[in-house]
Amino acid sequence: MLKHPEVQKVTDNINQEVIERREYKPPVCKVFSSSYAILEDKPHFKFDVDNEAGRCLPGIIDNKVQTIVELQTPEETFKEQFNKKRKIGIVFSGGPAPGGHNVIAGLYDAAQKANPETIIYGFLLGPDGIIEGEAIEITGSLVDRFRNLGGFTMIKTGRAKIDTKEKMELSKETCKRFGLDALVIVGGDDSNTNAAFLAQEMLADGIQVIGVPKTIDGDIQVRDSNGRILCAMSFGFHTAARAFAMEIGNLCTDSSSDVKYWHICKVMGRVASHLALETALQTHANITLIGEDLADYVDKERIEKAAAEGIINYHAYGMTLRHLSRMICDGIVRRAAVGKNYGVIVIPEGVLEFINEIQIFIIKLNTIISEYNQTHDTDFHTDFSLLEEKLEYLRRLAGRSQEDNSFTIWNMRDHELFNDIPAFFQEGLLMERDSHGNFQFSQVETDKVILGMVRDYLNSLKENGTYKIGIERSYYRKTLDKGGLDPDYLGPILFQNYDDAQFFLMKPSIMSLKTLKQALVKEGAISETEKVPESIEKIYHKSVPKFKTQLHFYGYDGRGNDPTRFDCMYTYNLGLTVFSLIANGATGQMAAIRNLEKDFSQWQPIGIPIAPLMHLEERKGKLTLVLEKSIVDINSTAFKVVKAFREKWLAATPGEDNYRRPGPIRFTGRSEEDRPITLGLNALDS
Ligand code: FBP
Repeated sequence: MLKHPEVQKVTDNINQEVIERREYKPPVCKVFSSSYAILEDKPHFKFDVDNEAGRCLPGIIDNKVQTIVELQTPEETFKEQFNKKRKIGIVFSGGPAPGGHNVIAGLYDAAQKANPETIIYGFLLGPDGIIEGEAIEITGSLVDRFRNLGGFTMIKTGRAKIDTKEKMELSKETCKRFGLDALVIVGGDDSNTNAAFLAQEMLADGIQVIGVPKTIDGDIQVRDSNGRILCAMSFGFHTAARAFAMEIGNLCTDSSSDVKYWHICKVMGRVASHLALETALQTHANITLIGEDLADYVDKERIEKAAAEGIINYHAYGMTLRHLSRMICDGIVRRAAVGKNYGVIVIPEGVLEFINEIQIFIIKLNTIISEYNQTHDTDFHTDFSLLEEKLEYLRRLAGRSQEDNSFTIWNMRDHELFNDIPAFFQEGLLMERDSHGNFQFSQVETDKVILGMVRDYLNSLKENGTYKIGIERSYYRKTLDKGGLDPDYLGPILFQNYDDAQFFLMKPSIMSLKTLKQALVKEGAISETEKVPESIEKIYHKSVPKFKTQLHFYGYDGRGNDPTRFDCMYTYNLGLTVFSLIANGATGQMAAIRNLEKDFSQWQPIGIPIAPLMHLEERKGKLTLVLEKSIVDINSTAFKVVKAFREKWLAATPGEDNYRRPGPIRFTGRSEEDRPITLGLNALDS
């Protein structure tokens, strides 16, 4: 039976989708159809350079933006240099992002075309592979197996950081031992930071280093100091956003079918809310939080109230968890009032970073942990492995500050506030930072924290009679008619809005069967001894909301998706760009494609200097030079559109919801969107 051809076919690892993906040949930018390309410096793109970047990276700080242009009739010496046999190493760094294999494919194909003897090494398991000298030779058949396929499976990835002198030396030794001409680092902000430092370090040895902007988070976006877009989006973003959107779109369909759940969807993206924003545009989910929007929040009402009393209310500036939960509840209550006790909420995983009180905890705890590590020359998390031990350490810190009456980073008030939050959240905030010193948002149950507060507040709204399900007019009439009762007589007794509304809301004072009976008796509809008529009881039960939720986390699944056609094309051309940069002797540059938001015929391969993009940021309690992350710009068109449609997508009105069905990622077919919606909208800015 197992030898039956049909059984063998359906149990084979290779299915039709994989076969078609492997065969797909992404189109190439015009410049790459020619055999030779040169780099042209574009000094009119300028950057605001941080002095520290100039001090630490003197050899690459003056690099310029370079465009890649075709060269029809090169001189012999150029040809020789361009086509020389090379050894090139490539590494994936950080979280997987769909399209990585195509960067390798593009680089491999371009290198082979220039010289079939060129060798490409893939360093294994991320930067550790460079430090430890673990690599494989990337062959044509290996590349063919992974063309247009997601993940970083071919050579794996890791989050190691080359951040000590020793690791830098070991990396340099590896590159020399492998006889590398160039090293390519495919990674996010921290990995491109690594690329810049390695480029500086290996300049004297003539080993070039090129970065590639990867991360599903979409937070590598580069503009020059005049706001001109150089890199609109890192690769992998489109696929991850589409994958999340498909899942969330399906939940919109499900929830508006069985009308009983609120789906709470946390989506990845670390600090920035780009993925949540794109998901909102793709699905029109009822509520989407955008962290960057919350950071700017001011409670005008509280400010005015305080001003009338002649005081300043500092708590009115910036979003608090309490206020956020109230905003969410407002949406839930308003939908319930029109009979929609269901819906979908999208929460970016990094939203807490934008909530004042939490951000302060994150910064304080980062500092405490890094100070502990520096002073004791050990590791905080090893010394205090249990939550109780960590809390005890914090308690001692707070106690000490009280005894000495000194100003310290953790005082009794911090201690008390921290003790008020649930243990699972305390644990999240105290969790080990990643190797780059980043807070690991994906490990914190942000959704649970927010949901806990939403649930509490909804309960109090239920108790004061504000949270109720609206009863549809015709349903009410039909039910009472069936029970032989007069709906017009009973309507004003039961409802607060018995007028021409389509949905009637029970009076706030009717909160139980007991209060229902009291209302009916008071108005003389029934006597003390009579039972509440069945049809009225039925209507009452219908008006009582149950807040039933389902929690979802969209991150790793979307990250592992096979790339969209956009990401396939983008990454393959990035690979070709990398080779052109290497063949022309560039180093300390990041490969990029300009005009991603435009038609493919206008895509322009470029090199962006990494060093001028670096700035100082607090990491592990120390100011460190890193590539600047780009968060959602609340003045961008994409954000403004989402803001303008918030009310419509909340759909707290009678009638249909306004969901959009993004559907699955299709590799072929006309419905496949050709680029992220955010990109298209933001291009309208320029
Ligand atoms: P990169 O920035 O390395 O691309 O990773 C992005 C990301 O997927 C974030 O969205 C998420 O917070 C994080 O990685 C998860 O990290 P890990 O894979 O270590 O759990």
